[in-house]
Amino acid sequence: MNYTPDQIRDIVATFQAPDRGRYPELDGYARDELYEDCSGGGGLYLAAEMVRTMRLQPGDIVLDLGCGKGVASLFLAQRFGVQVIAVNLWTPAAFLDHKFTARGVRDRIIPLHLDVTCELPFAEKYFDAVFCMNSFSFYGGSLAFLRHLLKHVKPGGGLCIGSEVLTDEFTPEQLELPPYVYAFRLPPPDERVDVFEEDFKKQHTPRWWRELFESSGLLDVEHCRVGRCRPALRRDDATRTRARRRFIQRPDLPGTEGMGPRPPSQEVAVRPHGSQEAERRPRGAVRCPLNALLARSP
Ligand SMILES: C[S@@+](CC[C@H](N)C(=O)[O-])C[C@H]1O[C@@H](n2cnc3c(N)ncnc32)[C@H](O)[C@@H]1O
Repeated sequence: MNYTPDQIRDIVATFQAPDRGRYPELDGYARDELYEDCSGGGGLYLAAEMVRTMRLQPGDIVLDLGCGKGVASLFLAQRFGVQVIAVNLWTPAAFLDHKFTARGVRDRIIPLHLDVTCELPFAEKYFDAVFCMNSFSFYGGSLAFLRHLLKHVKPGGGLCIGSEVLTDEFTPEQLELPPYVYAFRLPPPDERVDVFEEDFKKQHTPRWWRELFESSGLLDVEHCRVGRCRPALRRDDATRTRARRRFIQRPDLPGTEGMGPRPPSQEVAVRPHGSQEAERRPRGAVRCPLNALLARSP
């Protein structure tokens, strides 16, 4: 079953708009611009929440890790006067270069197309801060990765991650037979359907991330703010289906400000499964926003 445009409109109408007055950093952005080209929940509201923890100074060199279409890179460079290295795997650097040039910030944001799990082409202790929105879980959940990344961060520099998180760790049964996952049909230039069940299984609770960061001995966790969750966000309830369909990833419900709706123009489909399999699948862990987890290298 596919949601019709009218049904999507009805769902969107239930979204609660965040209070713009609480986000002066976002003055001047039109509502659609806050979510446009963001590939995760929250849009620039999440970026604003994250930046508040970071104590950025003009001229700082910031790594935007897994920058997607560069929306947060632009926000960082334009609103905070920092230099940004925007690295990403799925979006071509040419797309980002074109975008940053068109916005007049080519001298302040350098786009790089690279896999961040491979050797990184930066000097040691190079970055004042690492900003990572809706991306860290794809590759960052190991001590080895933290060591690999943090050698490039200055002493006292910060690593800030923000994203959806789980309220409970997946059980072994859920990992064996995961709750439904999204398949994204990305808009051009990334037009393709991408199922990421394996990536979904890499998601964790804020507590898990905190413990990983602390156990590294490389970071002190300074701040961990988690949004409230609502039962309506149960992933399996929201996505139970047997056919591919259009699906709004998650509404911006009361108490979850900072986790905005995906723009209706972005098509998000659910992986097709048989209905019997749907019933066998364990219930999914509730997901909620992690507004910011900031850790500093001592
Ligand atoms: C959900 S998107 C978030 C993009 C962007 N930060 C945002 O919030 O709109 C996840 C991003 O992680 C990036 N990513 C995933 N694995 C990566 C890897 N191994 N190296 C570099 N980037 C990676 C993808 O290219 C993608 O843009």
